[in-house]
Amino acid sequence: MDLYEYQAKDLFAAHGVPVLPGHTVTTPADAAKAAADIGGVVVVKAQVKTGGRGKAGGVKLAETPEEAGEKARAILGMDIKGHTVHRVLVTQASDIEEEYYFSFLLDRSNRTFLAMASAEGGMEIEQLAVERPEALAKVPVDPIAGVDKAKAASIVNMARIPAEVADEAAEVIVQLWETFVGEDATLVEVNPLIRNPGKRIIALDGKVTLDDNADFRHPSHTALVDQRAENPLEAKAKAKGLNYVKLDGGQVGIIGNGAGLVMSTLDVVAYAGQRYGGVKPANFLDIGGGASAQVMADGLDVILGDPDVRSVFVNVFGGITACDEVADGVVEALRILGDAATKPLVVRLDGNNVEEGRRILNEANHPLVTQVDTMDNAADKAAELAAVSLLGA
Ligand SMILES: Nc1ncnc2c1ncn2[C@@H]1O[C@H](COP(=O)(O)OP(=O)(O)OP(=O)(O)O)[C@@H](O)[C@H]1O
Ligand SMILES: [Mg+2]
Repeated sequence: MDLYEYQAKDLFAAHGVPVLPGHTVTTPADAAKAAADIGGVVVVKAQVKTGGRGKAGGVKLAETPEEAGEKARAILGMDIKGHTVHRVLVTQASDIEEEYYFSFLLDRSNRTFLAMASAEGGMEIEQLAVERPEALAKVPVDPIAGVDKAKAASIVNMARIPAEVADEAAEVIVQLWETFVGEDATLVEVNPLIRNPGKRIIALDGKVTLDDNADFRHPSHTALVDQRAENPLEAKAKAKGLNYVKLDGGQVGIIGNGAGLVMSTLDVVAYAGQRYGGVKPANFLDIGGGASAQVMADGLDVILGDPDVRSVFVNVFGGITACDEVADGVVEALRILGDAATKPLVVRLDGNNVEEGRRILNEANHPLVTQVDTMDNAADKAAELAAVSLLGA
């Protein structure tokens, strides 16, 4: 999960990284109040999860509370690279003597953590990396050893951050490392990390990506989820503990057990769909091993709630969960959903106890359910049903 700047800075502050006081608001009136509360010159900053806000006009200075209100009015509702601004951060303005760049990230290709730092911050780091790669220090970080004061000092040195602030910069880098590890982040980036005229090091901006796999260790991170921006179907699936990913431009809902089987199912449906005008899978949904009727019902509920879905392909290979339990699950799910279930289902069962599974579905004889014995034929049928439904629309 990517965080907003204000959320990133809250985490920074909690780990001792120096940030400037600020308030996040949603109306011009509250922006003016926030500015009055902070006192002096403030900066009004668009809170959107994309870069280049400054260039887009989403970062503005305001001398007075009235002006802060005006600037907030101009920024709220603005579209920045497809992101609508719903909130602004009103924060104390600082004089800037120098702007540095700093980040910790997970370097997947080298299987390590990486610190990146430069005495030439402020500008887009991608551009710096291309134009003046020597100005950007890239320092691998051993996950076991981590970053202590000595390691931080060597990063500061390689980044050519001036000696008079080297000590404080190293201290801040250690605190950023504590943020990175303590919050289970995969990215912590500060651009710019500034030196003010008083030679203090301050994080003026913040970008943090949290590792969702570690959510269970951080109950407090739930509060950081932006309900407004989250895909409602993905949110519903998450609340029910399902492994669901919505795919753009698809029409065939997919349910399977086991990530590998579901991935293959996406492929066979996309392949079959070529015969029907390019019909595609609409989602990934793995109900996992040991799926109960309730899990099947939850999965179907999520998929049938997707307006893009025209047909559903349930592809299950019975293992630990035998096919008869899955068949019971489908029948029970359709009973729970009742009239809410309106789209045709193609079910392919194989594996453990398949005969009994098929018998249960035959006996239930639900008008929406078609059983097909092989994966390829079932994919074909599901694609065909989606195409027919699209023609009818
Ligand atoms: N509190 C502040 N006081 C003074 N100047 C600021 C303050 N916050 C930001 N600025 C100035 O505005 C510039 C842009 O701000 P910031 O880095 O937060 O946004 P951005 O870089 O445009 O957005 P992103 O980092 O998402 O690309 C900074 O480089 C800095 O010069
Ligand atoms: Mg920035």
